[in-house]
Amino acid sequence: MLRILFASSEAYPLIKTGGLADVSGSLPRALLKLGHDVRILMPAYRDALQNARAAGVKTVATFTLENAVSGDHTVSIMETRLPGSRVKTWLLDCPALFDRPGNPYLDENNQDYADNDLRFLLFSRAAAELGLNRCGLDWQPDVVHCNDWQTGLTPVFLDQLGLQSAAAEQPRPATVFTIHNLAYQGLYGYETFTATQLPANFWHHEALEFHNQFSLIKGGIVYADRVNTVSPTYAREIQSERFGYGLQGLLRHRGEKLSGILNGINDEEWNPGTDAYLMHRYNRRTIAQRTKNKLELQKQLGLKVDASIPLLGFIGRLVEQKGVDWILANINLMLERGAQLVVLGNGEHAFEAALREAAALAPLSIAATIGYNEALAHRIEAASDIFLMPSKFEPCGLNQLYSLRYGAVPLVHNVGGLADTVIDTTASSLEDGSATGFVFDSLARDEPGDIALQTTLGRALDLYTDKPCWQSLQSNGMQQDNSWKQSALKYERLYRAAIADVAGKSPAYLT
Ligand code: ADP
Ligand code: GLC
Repeated sequence: MLRILFASSEAYPLIKTGGLADVSGSLPRALLKLGHDVRILMPAYRDALQNARAAGVKTVATFTLENAVSGDHTVSIMETRLPGSRVKTWLLDCPALFDRPGNPYLDENNQDYADNDLRFLLFSRAAAELGLNRCGLDWQPDVVHCNDWQTGLTPVFLDQLGLQSAAAEQPRPATVFTIHNLAYQGLYGYETFTATQLPANFWHHEALEFHNQFSLIKGGIVYADRVNTVSPTYAREIQSERFGYGLQGLLRHRGEKLSGILNGINDEEWNPGTDAYLMHRYNRRTIAQRTKNKLELQKQLGLKVDASIPLLGFIGRLVEQKGVDWILANINLMLERGAQLVVLGNGEHAFEAALREAAALAPLSIAATIGYNEALAHRIEAASDIFLMPSKFEPCGLNQLYSLRYGAVPLVHNVGGLADTVIDTTASSLEDGSATGFVFDSLARDEPGDIALQTTLGRALDLYTDKPCWQSLQSNGMQQDNSWKQSALKYERLYRAAIADVAGKSPAYLT
């Protein structure tokens, strides 16, 4: 049994902006099932605290973080359970930094909070103190699992503070840092670096400095015992110039300490057989029921109600990463081919406006819901014939996994986790029963993405008319096991490897 402190800036269902919350809300449950003692640490945002109340919340520790982030801060740990599970969850309460409405990172005007650097420095520091069992909780983790730049400094602080505790013959816990998205790095100025009160030699390009900025993600990449990302393909891609954002050299340098582990899904939450958001539940054997969800959705969104029309779905953040521009470039093709498009998402205003405009011009064929809506997301998965994920890069991606489970055939770009989870339909993959979707490869063919998408969309729409063939695609996907079973075991092995690394290192630490 391992004791694991899982530090994350979001965890479903307490608070969610994207896939990180899905992972943080489901991997710890899978680790608990494997018999580990896992605790989630997350900031006590106002909404998260509110959502936790039903499960009961009690203050279990109050302590002062001395000399942390430009001075002393008194904070509390509020203990609850992740709703719907037995996973102990610790909310770091510091009202001045986290008692704010809405999104964990953005204010009401969708702007980053001006003090995000200090908010997550403090969070990272608290995770390190808990990791060293210095907060009066009488619980010493074997490993601290950090996620994304918001926790990037935890391995750094542990390394620093661990030196003192190593001298006191208490080893520091091992650290694992997971990169969910290298595009978000937590870059700040020199003043933020000084606020950490780390020794001056950390301001170095082999440490935390990155092109004259203070890089929080580098903290995790340089100092964690093990670094991983959320698919094997993305782990390779980020070591290349195209996907590495200037960090490819460092990532290559971490060599065998860097690996890729595919995300799993919460298969209770995302199960078409029991999904409370659906009017008509179904499974592989009762797939005919699925059409009723499509008719409901067409009606709800004011589209032409007709089961024979191919329905394309898209759910996601409306940002460059997700290939929204390639979707927009193919809207005419969709209309010419008599398809419908349902979009749910929010993000950049230009994308939101373009999608709204497309829907206004063809209201019977295109529906754009701008906003965040969990119920609608489930209904789109249960209704779409084809689920679009033409991402320019995709560390793992969860929606294609939900689509596979829901019988919405995914059409994806050949990158990251999309490449690792969807098998393109060809004569031979149909024949051997491995085909689960459609994959386009603009990179290998050196073709513009919108054109590559166009060709593959045409191919998918052609095949859609072949019902037996389409049903076998759906059935193949629905049989795929994307639960956490395998991946949680891989994390367990990664934790043990990190622990072995620390054990191997400790003499050097003491000298
Ligand atoms: P990313 O983390 O890059 O946004 P993922 O595919 O890993 O992408 O995960 C996105 C998660 O957020 C999925 O669970 C998806 O259903 C959800 N999601 C994204 N946008 C919305 C939205 N507008 N409404 C509801 N759920 C959304
Ligand atoms: C990130 C990535 C996404 C991944 C998610 C969870 O937000 O963009 O691909 O699935 O994290 O790991």
